[in-house]
Amino acid sequence: MSPLTRRQLLALGAAGAGAAAVGGAGLWWTGGGEALGGGRGLVQPEVLSAADGLLELDLAAAPATVRVGARTAHVRAFNGSLPGPTLRLRPGDTLRVAMTNRLEAPTNLHVHGLHISPEGHGDNPFVSIAPGESFDYDFALPEDHPPGTYWYHPHRHGHVADQLAAGLYGAIVVEGPDPVPVTRERVLVVSDITLDASGELAAVSPPEQMMGREGETVLVNGQVRPAATAAPGERELWRVVNACPARFLRLTLDGQTLRLSGRDVGRLPAPREITEVTLAPGNRVELLVDTRGGTSTLTAAPVDRGSMDGMMGGRTPGDGPGNDEPIELLTLEVTGAPAGAVGPVPAGPAPRDLRGEPVAARRTLDFAMGMDGGMMGGGMMGSTRGPGSMMTFTINGEPFDEDRTDQRVAPGTVEEWTLTNSSPMDHPMHLHVWPMQVVADGDGDVDTPLWLDVVNIPAFGEVVVRVAFDDFSGRTVYHCHILDHEDLGMMGTVEVR
Ligand code: C2O
Ligand code: CU
Ligand code: CU
Repeated sequence: MSPLTRRQLLALGAAGAGAAAVGGAGLWWTGGGEALGGGRGLVQPEVLSAADGLLELDLAAAPATVRVGARTAHVRAFNGSLPGPTLRLRPGDTLRVAMTNRLEAPTNLHVHGLHISPEGHGDNPFVSIAPGESFDYDFALPEDHPPGTYWYHPHRHGHVADQLAAGLYGAIVVEGPDPVPVTRERVLVVSDITLDASGELAAVSPPEQMMGREGETVLVNGQVRPAATAAPGERELWRVVNACPARFLRLTLDGQTLRLSGRDVGRLPAPREITEVTLAPGNRVELLVDTRGGTSTLTAAPVDRGSMDGMMGGRTPGDGPGNDEPIELLTLEVTGAPAGAVGPVPAGPAPRDLRGEPVAARRTLDFAMGMDGGMMGGGMMGSTRGPGSMMTFTINGEPFDEDRTDQRVAPGTVEEWTLTNSSPMDHPMHLHVWPMQVVADGDGDVDTPLWLDVVNIPAFGEVVVRVAFDDFSGRTVYHCHILDHEDLGMMGTVEVR
C-alpha cells in the first residue's frame, strides 16, 4: 500500500477539507461558529419515558432532512431527528421497540451498556433487519439494573460506522433510586458528521476507515456549538454520550467547577472534582456543574490515539487522527440572580470490587492490525500493494466470524481478561451485556473500583479487566468501538452457557 498523501491525511483528521481550503490555518469552526449556525440555544432531544414499568415505541431508521448548523443536511435518523429520542427507564422496566428499517442497507438495534439478555428479541447483535423489514425488540431490565447514561445505535456488522456517521444514535437514561439533587439535567449527545457541498453525507475513503473516520463537524444534540444558559449557584447534571464513530473526546469546561459523578455504568460513591475527562467512542460521563457567573466553553481538546506511522510509510508530525486544535462543543452562559442552594449530594452505593473474588478463568485478547493476514513488520513498508488493499483488524489473529464462538464462559463466574494491543493505534474495547472492572491499566494497578463498558487499550499497551458473568446466559460480542475497526473485523464472540 502506498503511503498516505498529505491530502488524505488532512482528510482523516478534524483538520479536514475546510482547513485545507484556508491554507491549513485554524479550524473553520473556531470563531466562525455563528456563520455556520452555531450559538443557537441548546435543545434537548425528545424524551420518551416509561410508565407503569413499560416503554413501548416505534423506531424507524430512515433518511431524514435536518438542519445542521446553517445547512440543510440529508442524513439518516431515528424517527426523523438527530439524535433520536431519549428513552428514560427505571430498573425493572421493559423497553419494547418496534424497529423498522427504511435504509438502503441492513441494520439492527443495540442498547449499549444495558445489562440485559443478549438472546432472541433482547440485545441480540446477530439480528439483521433487511431494508423494508421490521423487528420487535423486547428489552427487560433487571430490578437491580445500575442507573446511568446509556445509548442506542445500529449494530449490523459491516454497516455500523456508516450508520452512526449518518446520524443514527440516541440516549437512554436509567434513573436511580437516589438521584443527585440538581436544578437541571441535560443530555449531551456528541457526534460528528461530514457533509459535502450539497448537504449529502460524504463518502468515506479506505484510509479514513483504517484510521477510524472523524467527521468534519462535531455536533451536540445535532447542533453546531449551541449555547446553554443558567443562573449562578445552580447545579446541573450533564449526561454526555460519545456517539462519534471514532473520535475521542477530552472534555474541559473552563471557569466552572466540574465534578465527575458517573462513568458508563452506575454512579460513583462520591463525585470527584476534575479538570478534564476523556471519553473513548461509546463512553459516557455524568458531570455535575456547580455554576458560577461567566461564559464557559465545553471543549474537546486534542487526543493522541496513535497513528498508522510505520504501517503506512512516511511520518509527518501531527498527522495522526483527531483534532490538533481544541474544538468548541458548547458554550454555557451563567448570568442573572443567584439561584437558591441545592441539597448535598447523597453518597452512592459502594461499587462491587472483583479483586476480592475468586477468578475462574484468565484469558488474553490481543488486538492487532496487519496487512492481508500478515502482521505489520519491516517488509510491509516496502510493499507495492495497490491502493485498494485494506489492512486487517483482528483479535487473537482472527477477523470477526459470527458463526465462530471465540470465548466460552461458565455463567456466574468471574474472569480476568488481559487486553493487549500490538498495534500503533489505540483500540477502545467494548463488551456487551457485562460491564468490566479495570484492575490495571498502562500506569499500573487501579486503586478505586473503576467500572466501564468501553476500556481503551493504548497503542502497544495493555489493560487488565475483570468481568462477573452474572444474571444472563447467551451469546454476544466484544469489539473495538472505533466502529470502522469493528466493521473491518475487530470483533469476537463470547458465549456464556
Ligand atoms: Cu456501542 Cu457493540 O456497541
Ligand atoms: Cu454496546
Ligand atoms: Cu480499533
